[in-house]
Amino acid sequence: MSRVYLTTAIDYVNNRPHLGTAYEKIAADVIARYHRLVGRDVRFVMGNDEHSQNVFKRAKEHGLDPLAYCDRMEQEFREVWARLDVSFDDFIRTTEPRHKAAVQEMVRRSLAAGDIYEGVYEGWYCVSCEEFKPEKGLIDGQCPVHRTTPDWIKEKNYFFKLSNYRDALLAHYAAHPDFVAPESRKNEMLRLLEGGLEDISVSRAGQAWGIPLPNDPGSVVYVWYDALINYAAAVGFGADDQLFDQWWTQTGETDRTVLHIVGKDITRFHCVVWPAMLLSAGLPLPTQIFGHGWVLLKGEKMSKSLGTVIDPLAAVEKFGPDPLRLYLTKEIVFGNDGDFSWDRFEEKYNADLANNLGNLVSRLTSMVGRYRQGRLTATGADPLLAEAFDAVAAQWRDAHERLALDEACAAVFRWVDRLNEYIAAAAPWHLAKENDQAALDRVLWNASEGLRLAAVMLSPVIPASAHEILVRLGEDAPGTTWDTARMWRTTGNRQVAAKDALWPRLEPKKEIVVSDPTPPTPPASEWPLESRITIEDFLKIDLRVAKVLEAEKVPNSKKLVKLKIDLGSEQRTLVAGIAESYEADTLVGRTVAIVANLKPATLMGIESNGMILAASADGGKATLVAFEDAPAPGTRIK
Ligand code: MSP
Repeated sequence: MSRVYLTTAIDYVNNRPHLGTAYEKIAADVIARYHRLVGRDVRFVMGNDEHSQNVFKRAKEHGLDPLAYCDRMEQEFREVWARLDVSFDDFIRTTEPRHKAAVQEMVRRSLAAGDIYEGVYEGWYCVSCEEFKPEKGLIDGQCPVHRTTPDWIKEKNYFFKLSNYRDALLAHYAAHPDFVAPESRKNEMLRLLEGGLEDISVSRAGQAWGIPLPNDPGSVVYVWYDALINYAAAVGFGADDQLFDQWWTQTGETDRTVLHIVGKDITRFHCVVWPAMLLSAGLPLPTQIFGHGWVLLKGEKMSKSLGTVIDPLAAVEKFGPDPLRLYLTKEIVFGNDGDFSWDRFEEKYNADLANNLGNLVSRLTSMVGRYRQGRLTATGADPLLAEAFDAVAAQWRDAHERLALDEACAAVFRWVDRLNEYIAAAAPWHLAKENDQAALDRVLWNASEGLRLAAVMLSPVIPASAHEILVRLGEDAPGTTWDTARMWRTTGNRQVAAKDALWPRLEPKKEIVVSDPTPPTPPASEWPLESRITIEDFLKIDLRVAKVLEAEKVPNSKKLVKLKIDLGSEQRTLVAGIAESYEADTLVGRTVAIVANLKPATLMGIESNGMILAASADGGKATLVAFEDAPAPGTRIK
């Protein structure tokens, strides 16, 4: 069986996770869940990096022993990951005995290889980065990441002969073109390697918080050298040879992957230092290191030390984990930076979940309820739809295999669009009216198959919601693997449940209008650029085709007509101000355009559900928006 050992960076625990650190864990979780779905044996490991000086300082500020502080933070981290539905298989802490055993074994091996030697380090050190900084890397004497002045230190250090490994690393990069991804990150690393490598310090003197060097217990292992080893420690290096062989060495295995997911700021440690450490210890290198981009807030990296962070739980409290998971996976090209804003998040929630996927679920399940009392029996496949699915499934798999997580999501949402169009074109409400029972069965079954497959493909990204959709579709065994799930079913039956909307629409925030006594200067254009709306704003308006079933003038009103309309999936009453332009009975049978998602309003005691579209010059007669040929009621107007 193919095996995937997948890791994320381990987090410093001086602060709780923020949206930036959570992004990495969510992306890795999507990858882990995808591999499990397609039947691979996955070990997904995350953890905490506890030996940093900042952690030590923060513990003291809390009046706690550092280990007690780390214990407390572990609980906080685990709670955040649980609420984000992150499904790691193991969680490693660098203060655990298994980690200490691995670090000491690694040091012993590199000492034996002659790669660790004693020296003196003198230079700048940024505690927030936990990194020695070359003078030329500072901006106005400050760390470019944290904008603080680093400490000048001079102390006895042990050094690792990184310079010895430049050629071996270049050869490895050449022989394994996918070793570092995305390509831009690889090129950056290649430039660094080609420029030559300097030896690095791997210990700190005079510090108590850290793992002692086996050959000199007065020195502790430098936090980065220590932290990188977690990847080997978590699968038993130095403690459990069998486990280590199973997940890391994978002797005799052909289809195996060791994949590290890390942020782009720490790729140098992972793509240069870590592989050199492994080569020195005589160990195989990981298959791939993927350096993802940053979540930005107003164009800046989200960072606790700069005070620009968003708490991921703020989104979870309001919407559950899935809308956030979807936003981060779909809206950020995996590998690139991506901005986060609440406005954009809410826009995408409405567009993708409330309107698109949510609408499909509600529409389909309520039609199955109305026309089939919730019971669906399998029919043959609709060949066009099933073929379209095969193409989508191939794109979805290919995108996941390339770690193009955003593309994989986009492929599924194109499929959801296709299903909405399929329903609009097949118009089950007509089939019901015409009593074409066989065709109605076929459309409802095929649409439900399409929705089932959309839910399966989305399950790595929105696991809880995908599960809920499958349950509503009467799938009591949603945990099957892709090879079984992907087959278009043509036998069996389904008990479908129509329930409340999975994702209620968010209404736009109301603007407070302050009256201004000075008359406004007329704008140069009737539509000045700053007042124009985006396509997402436009898509908030759900415009639909409807057919007028009944029409009558509202008593005691000159302008109002009461209409009963067919909207495809439902019938509604609405009130329109067109009585001066149209006799009521000339309206019956007309195909009209309406705003379908307008909140109800009461006019002359009648609740109006929607608004009809008409053109009228100021004070002139209204002319209804009409169509060249009459599309089916419910068809979306874009
Ligand atoms: N402890 C080290 C990693 C050691 S791995 C052997 C560390 N910790 S961290 O807590 O600062 O960051 C953890 C991960 O979160 C890193 O991969 C980092 O790049 C990532 N991110 C931190 N801020 C981020 C964003 N604003 N956006 C995306 N990822 C971000 O570095």
